[in-house]
Amino acid sequence: MKLLVILLFSGLTISCRGNSSYSLPPKLLLVSFDGFRADYLQNYEFPHLQNFIKEGVLVEHVKNVFITKTFPNHYSIVTGLYEESHGIVANSMYDNVTKKHFSDSNDKDPFWWNEAVPIWVTNQLQENRSSAAAMWPGTDVPIHNTTPSYYMNYSSSVSFKERLSKITTWLSNSNPPVTFATLYWEEPDASGHKYGPEDKENMRRVLKEIDDLIGDLVQKLKMLGLWESINVIITSDHGMTQCSENRLINLDHCIDHSNYSLIDLTPVAAILPKINVTEAYDKLKKCNSHMNVYLKEDIPNRFYYQHNDRIQPIILVADEGWTIVLNKSALKLGDHGYDNSLPSMHPFLAAHGPAFHKGYKHSTINIVDIYPMMCYILGLKPHPNNGTFGHTKCLLVDQWCISLPEAIGIVIGALLVLTTLTCLILIMQNRTSVPRPFSRLQLQDDDDDDPLIG
Ligand SMILES: *[C@@H]1O[C@H](CO)[C@@H](O)[C@H](O)[C@H]1NC(C)=O
Ligand SMILES: *[C@@H]1O[C@H](CO)[C@@H](O)[C@H](O)[C@H]1NC(C)=O
Ligand SMILES: *[C@@H]1O[C@H](CO)[C@@H](O)[C@H](O)[C@H]1NC(C)=O
Ligand SMILES: *[C@@H]1O[C@H](CO)[C@@H](O)[C@H](O)[C@H]1NC(C)=O
Ligand SMILES: *[C@@H]1O[C@H](CO)[C@@H](O)[C@H](O)[C@H]1NC(C)=O
Ligand SMILES: *[C@@H]1O[C@H](CO)[C@@H](O)[C@H](O)[C@H]1NC(C)=O
Ligand SMILES: *[C@@H]1O[C@H](CO)[C@@H](O)[C@H](O)[C@H]1NC(C)=O
Ligand SMILES: *[C@@H]1O[C@H](CO)[C@@H](O)[C@H](O)[C@H]1NC(C)=O
Ligand SMILES: [Zn+2]
Repeated sequence: MKLLVILLFSGLTISCRGNSSYSLPPKLLLVSFDGFRADYLQNYEFPHLQNFIKEGVLVEHVKNVFITKTFPNHYSIVTGLYEESHGIVANSMYDNVTKKHFSDSNDKDPFWWNEAVPIWVTNQLQENRSSAAAMWPGTDVPIHNTTPSYYMNYSSSVSFKERLSKITTWLSNSNPPVTFATLYWEEPDASGHKYGPEDKENMRRVLKEIDDLIGDLVQKLKMLGLWESINVIITSDHGMTQCSENRLINLDHCIDHSNYSLIDLTPVAAILPKINVTEAYDKLKKCNSHMNVYLKEDIPNRFYYQHNDRIQPIILVADEGWTIVLNKSALKLGDHGYDNSLPSMHPFLAAHGPAFHKGYKHSTINIVDIYPMMCYILGLKPHPNNGTFGHTKCLLVDQWCISLPEAIGIVIGALLVLTTLTCLILIMQNRTSVPRPFSRLQLQDDDDDDPLIG
């Protein structure tokens, strides 16, 4: 019965969606608030965001990719790939063949981005569709010779209000229509680094500001008449954990700086030795018990962080809350980049719009699962990726989604129905079939046995 209802219902919703999607292609706005740790949502108040979730969906934890840094994870969201496969393996990189350097202020060479195809490029190859970006790592770079039709060069000094105004204008007035758009904001990452996530008072103030920005976003979409028809995803790249001057790992105490090039420092250091790699490894291995030292070929498989020339011969991974420094490094009170299995490194995801359920909560997905879901919503064929569409089916109105207990319930229910039916049929057959002498004899035998059994 339940099965039948689900079948009928999904049939209905699919046909309704089918009708409207011919006239208007679906629109999707992808928003990132950098460094929005998953449990901020439980530990602080977000009236506007909670309203958004009440009419939409929430994924409480998004397992992001290693290393849990900004550029790599933003690129995983829009490509569905692990870092070793999309090529943005850190915020600071070095390529030993071309001798090129990459950093967050020197990121415009397409060379770094071309190992993958982000969704805004794929979207734009569809007839009559364009993409727009009010910032997002990579959106101001001609990746595979394509930038979004509408974009802003990255500048941290442009206000949220201006970014919001640009992106909503593009979403409402462009021809061909903008169907995929991104919006990026630097907070709460900047304040998380500055104060540390355990500074409740400062974080409360900053997170209230963010909630107000979400309020502005929803209000603006309503004012422009976009709210009912647009799909909005609000998510982030990573979390944040508290650091301390009592938890420092000083490389200058272990290895002479002339013995290696330091490509990236903390909490995952990328070391390019100038001396014998084994020798450098041995020095670093003895350095401090609060970090793991890996030769490139020994990096654990679960990190999916090995098969790329931009990953250096030795990486150092600090324990949560520990900071790798040199003699003169400045310390941040909060940081991220650590092991992606740590809950403190995880962001959340909330979504609202015609593609999503209303008032549905889900415990976890992977950050690489967002890409196939976005492609589905936009009707795009995804590039090969590491995400699983099935993980996000429960968020989507027009998808089958059965949780394990439900599945067990349905199987047991079906078995009960089948058994009952079989019994009924057998009884009917016994009643209607003309009893042959032999079978009557058997029945009588059985009857005789009964008192003995009883
Ligand atoms: C499709 O939607 C339009 C309104 O958008 C409605 O008039 C029409 O009857 C619908 N067609 C079907 C087959 O549901
Ligand atoms: C693209 O848009 C034009 C006019 O806006 C329309 O005539 C054409 O049919 C559209 N093409 C597709 C494939 O939707
Ligand atoms: C971004 O900056 C480049 C180089 O400074 C410039 O050529 C380009 O027009 C700018 N694009 C936008 C959208 O502002
Ligand atoms: C490596 O460091 C040692 C000091 O620990 C120094 O004597 C040596 O010259 C360095 N080697 C290189 C190649 O820089
Ligand atoms: C590095 O040193 C080890 C012994 O410490 C030696 O076995 C190895 O051959 C050396 N490698 C190179 C490339 O010199
Ligand atoms: C560059 O790095 C790769 C992988 O780490 C290595 O196999 C290769 O030999 C290096 N090439 C040069 C020119 O150093
Ligand atoms: C770092 O500091 C230590 C002592 O605190 C000193 O011995 C060492 O020479 C310094 N190294 C560098 C590279 O400044
Ligand atoms: C991730 O996806 C890419 C593209 O399909 C593939 O080449 C790579 O092997 C995948 N990685 C893993 C660990 O499956
Ligand atoms: Zn970030």
